[in-house]
Amino acid sequence: QAGIKARLLEINKEAAKYYYFQLKSARGQAAVDYLTKRQLSEETIKKFGLGYSNQTGDDIYRYLKHIGYEDDILRESGLISFDERHKVYDKFWNRVMFPIMDTNNRVIGFGGRVMGDGLPKYLNSPETKLFDKSRNLYGLNFARTSRKPNFLICEGYMDVIALHQAGFTNAVASLGTAFTGLQANLIKRYTTEVLLTYDSDEAGTKAALRAIPILKEAGLTVKVINMKPYKDPDEFIKALGAEEFQKRIDGARNSFLFEVEVMENDYDMNDPEQKTKFFNEIAKKMLQFTEEIERNIYIEAVSKKYETGFENLRKLVNSYGARL
Ligand code: CTP
Ligand code: MN
Ligand code: MN
Ligand code: MN
Ligand code: MN
Repeated sequence: QAGIKARLLEINKEAAKYYYFQLKSARGQAAVDYLTKRQLSEETIKKFGLGYSNQTGDDIYRYLKHIGYEDDILRESGLISFDERHKVYDKFWNRVMFPIMDTNNRVIGFGGRVMGDGLPKYLNSPETKLFDKSRNLYGLNFARTSRKPNFLICEGYMDVIALHQAGFTNAVASLGTAFTGLQANLIKRYTTEVLLTYDSDEAGTKAALRAIPILKEAGLTVKVINMKPYKDPDEFIKALGAEEFQKRIDGARNSFLFEVEVMENDYDMNDPEQKTKFFNEIAKKMLQFTEEIERNIYIEAVSKKYETGFENLRKLVNSYGARL
């Protein structure tokens, strides 16, 4: 008998095919309509293997049983829930389905979106013997061969798909979980530079601030794309198109200067006391630059932008630690 991981891979593959073919069913038409409304082409739907999970409560369960899988392995798949009375129901119910693939194009889990405003907006497969969220990235199976000079890191399924459809085949997403060091190392295998293109809301900004040090730690150069006034890459591209997005890529900001700009919002820069605190916080963060020329360039940029003397800021930085 094949190992458990191999069997789970088979089950996921069968489920992905099943969900995909459900798009052709009468009920699946609603999912096709939804995806069409979100401007995804037939080719894109096929490339990402999008699908539809049917409306009856145990559809995929009955199908997988029918083709020969037993309860014990289905329990491990994360696709089926069994309650205390051994009543069985599908985890994904009346949702648009996004298969999550590993770098070998094997389906390891799923995300499912409600078609409309229901909650939760997305449901994801639980962690299984196959699916470890912290060491996979959505879209990496395609991005790894994109031959672009960098990777785009965004938040969600629809962002990755919209970016790929617009020709930005180097987009990946960390899927709602905090970005991990394992994911950074995974990216480091394929590129040296990443552009963060998280949502422009507060949650997205916070996620970017958390991801920056993790990516830098892995040795990646990090820049941040400004998506305003749009909320995420999907909405940006829908509104302004690929050419305008390329301009945002070309204008991506240095991640440290991005961090400084975000920090600035916590201080009243017209108040000398607050402004002093702000400079102290920046000075501490500057210690990450251990090369004199680099540190001086940042000191110069910040002292110019916020109108203090270069020497002032340099002394403050040195007061916090290793003098260069
Ligand atoms: N997410 C999740 N569960 C939720 C909400 C979000 O797992 N309840 C994850 C999904 O991977 C989602 C990503 O976080 O793609 C980003 O979330 P959000 O910005 O809220 O959604 P969008 O990707 O913009 O979704 P859409 O455009 O379909 O509304
Ligand atoms: Mn978001
Ligand atoms: Mn969106
Ligand atoms: Mn979003
Ligand atoms: Mn500001």
